[in-house]
Amino acid sequence: MTKFLLSLHVLAAIVAIGPVTVAASMFPAVTRRDDRGSLPLLHRICRVYALLGVAVPVFGLATASSLGVLGDIWLIVSIVLTGLAAALLGLAILPAQQRIIAGTPFPPARLGMLTGVFNLLWAVVVVLMIIRPGSTTGA
Ligand code: HEM
Repeated sequence: MTKFLLSLHVLAAIVAIGPVTVAASMFPAVTRRDDRGSLPLLHRICRVYALLGVAVPVFGLATASSLGVLGDIWLIVSIVLTGLAAALLGLAILPAQQRIIAGTPFPPARLGMLTGVFNLLWAVVVVLMIIRPGSTTGA
């Protein structure tokens, strides 16, 4: 059962978070181009896959409770960082994309910086998931 939950967790991370990082990273560059026609599609990919991404913490928590590691520090740090990344996406990046599409000025460099921090948070969480510092349940 644990392996099944872990498979779903990792599958959800690849299928949902992958597209969001790629589409969100492309968005600031496209805003600087003359042809901004693909902005709504990139925004839509970010929004739809962000919702699908809810499956990642859901299966992650299920895996953690099945393994009995819910109190582990690496897991708690991962949960906090996942929450920060989700908040950054939902409260800053997606609204900024919306403003840009609606024609309200928003500096692309600032959006690029927010997106960079967002991508970095996922990278840190993935490393934590694999290294599991302080875990006594094996490498
Ligand atoms: C609330 C957030 C999360 C929770 C509770 C959670 C929980 C877990 C647990 C319990 C494991 C199993 C570790 C083990 O085998 O001992 C795991 C593995 C994994 N998680 Fe997460 N996770 C979360 C977020 C994420 C995110 C956001 C990503 C990717 C962006 C991710 C990617 C992975 C990967 C790739 C593994 C496999 C690591 C391995 O088995 O070597 N997780 N996660």
